[in-house]
Amino acid sequence: MDETGTTPEHPMWLPEAVFRGLRDRTIAVVGDDPLLGTVRREADAAGMTEVPPSAEAELTIMPVADLATHARRIDAAAVGDLGTEGYAIAREGGRTVIAYAGAAGALYGWFHVVRAGLGDADTAGGAASDAPTVERHVPRHSLRMLDHWDNVSEHPVMGQVERGYAGGSIFYEDGRVREDLSRVERYARLLASIGVNRVAINNVNVGRREARLLTDDLGEVSRIAACFRPWGIRVHLAVSFASPITLAGLPTADPVDEAVQQWWADAATRVYAAIEDFGGFLVKADSEGQPGPFAYGRDHADGANMLAAALAPHGGIVHWRAFVYNHRQDWRDRSTDRARAAYDHFVPLDGRFADNVILQVKYGPLDFQVREPVSPVIPGLRETAVALELQITQEYTGQQRHAVYLAPQWREILEFAPFGDSGPTISDLSRGGIAAVANVGDDPFWTGHPLAQANLYAYGRLAWDPSLDADAILDEWAALTFGDDTTARGGIHRLLSDSWRTYESYTAPLGVGFMVNPGDHYGPSVEGYEYSPWGTYHFADRDGIGVDRTVATGTGYAGQYPEPWRSVYESLDSVPDELLLFFHHVPYSHRLRSGATVVQHVYDTHFDGVERVRAQVALWDSLDGRIDTAVHRRVTERLAEQLRSATDWRDQINTYFFRASGIADERGRRIY
Ligand code: GCU
Repeated sequence: MDETGTTPEHPMWLPEAVFRGLRDRTIAVVGDDPLLGTVRREADAAGMTEVPPSAEAELTIMPVADLATHARRIDAAAVGDLGTEGYAIAREGGRTVIAYAGAAGALYGWFHVVRAGLGDADTAGGAASDAPTVERHVPRHSLRMLDHWDNVSEHPVMGQVERGYAGGSIFYEDGRVREDLSRVERYARLLASIGVNRVAINNVNVGRREARLLTDDLGEVSRIAACFRPWGIRVHLAVSFASPITLAGLPTADPVDEAVQQWWADAATRVYAAIEDFGGFLVKADSEGQPGPFAYGRDHADGANMLAAALAPHGGIVHWRAFVYNHRQDWRDRSTDRARAAYDHFVPLDGRFADNVILQVKYGPLDFQVREPVSPVIPGLRETAVALELQITQEYTGQQRHAVYLAPQWREILEFAPFGDSGPTISDLSRGGIAAVANVGDDPFWTGHPLAQANLYAYGRLAWDPSLDADAILDEWAALTFGDDTTARGGIHRLLSDSWRTYESYTAPLGVGFMVNPGDHYGPSVEGYEYSPWGTYHFADRDGIGVDRTVATGTGYAGQYPEPWRSVYESLDSVPDELLLFFHHVPYSHRLRSGATVVQHVYDTHFDGVERVRAQVALWDSLDGRIDTAVHRRVTERLAEQLRSATDWRDQINTYFFRASGIADERGRRIY
């Protein structure tokens, strides 16, 4: 706390201490792109001394083409093609060289050195006679996007940031773009340091006020874009499909109507006149009440392509979301399965989308649950660029009151191989990159729960390189954020490493999902969605639970997967335990592949989950005095709430299953 009694803004993973090792070292930067200017300012702020390239500085950042002049011993052939954002790093003796092809590579190379350190002049590098080894770093996904669900004005139910758990928006205040955007500049720097290069700055549910960002507020949006530009990040806007009606008074928003097409073309021209490097539009259409092409008897290819045509002359992209389903379904109707919806809507349109359309697909068929199978839409679309959509904000995973490190879940998703082990992974198939719903707000810790910063960090690192190990990323983040104290870092590692599975263990079991309070989605409510129009049921009765999504006797959802998964999920003999209730309706006495019955598994995991949280609390207590006081206090408060909430989950879920099944816990523990 400062003298005013408020907690100052936390530097996340870039505290001053991280730059200590760079102070008074020499740097040479070759090139004059504005992004190189950013690198020079960074180096200066870190206390480095700029010298000419010929001086063989301790760190030299230069274009590949200059290696021959300034770093002859580095083999340019080994550097290879770096694309516009990659960099190569070579260390020799006390000298580090970063080679780039596009200026963004210089910026990412700089942050690599910030993370890894410059090394010690006496020890770094190989023997003087060996040519230095070249390490190449090229992003696996060229679009690494964050989607903010921020509203300009306060929404009466959702607040300013929809599903935001970290205070108000960093972009907007009092119904307009903030006067002081310096925090956005600091945010942009943090994002650049983890490789994020696109940001959508408003909610996908576009209100009347927010729709005007595209028109009346362009000057203001351009101020936001100016904060991101020096960090290699392009700004996108979520737009409302009905804008021609609501903003311009046209009688229709029909995508084949020429006046509508012209309106969008003109809107795009105006945007690019104001923001030359504007990224494009993000669209949630015909979903949860948002307007879309269905109103005019058109399909989503018609809608997306119309916007794509408006953006194409300027090099813009349409991110069109595949989150389309009937949210007014009748629970009595057993033939409608929400999980099927995205595939049924979009796979028949494969091949019809324009080149600058990216279909943005949530990782699972429902909605960011702690456990879902990976969406079959991603392997189903062969001719359409797909972006995987993740959720960093912890809507269904504890709302930044529970400590849940999500990288292990994202790793599982990214490496899932829908066509079998020898085929491409989800990461390979996400040719349109990765997008994720952001988790920051104007909270002093940015993310409400200080440990939720790890999720933002891990997202950026995985979007760049999905093969990174989740634990290694965690350690990297903890070292940057918490400094040299290995006890503190080790404790944070133990607290977070397996926390996703801990959360899974005390919430909805075996992939069944959605046992949450309707509306705010926090805390247990086993039947909260059972008779609701949102299409998220579990069908528990006295005999059993789960959704039959098989082809043989169920909704047929399992048939949306290619082999081998179609068969794996279809059969009770092969479905993975953790997804059992997503695919099958089984008796409580059904034996899992683990050997336990379903009901006993529920009891065991729920009792165990609460004990794991209790251990997390004790562990955190033991770190008191080793961690910044304000951070420690905030996490302590959140852990207390997590323990209360986990206990509530345990008792409600166990009691529900006990009452429904009449089967007692084998170990006789207390169930209500
Ligand atoms: C969830 C979430 C909504 C959000 C929607 C979306 O349903 O609860 O707040 O608008 O996802 O992704 O569009």
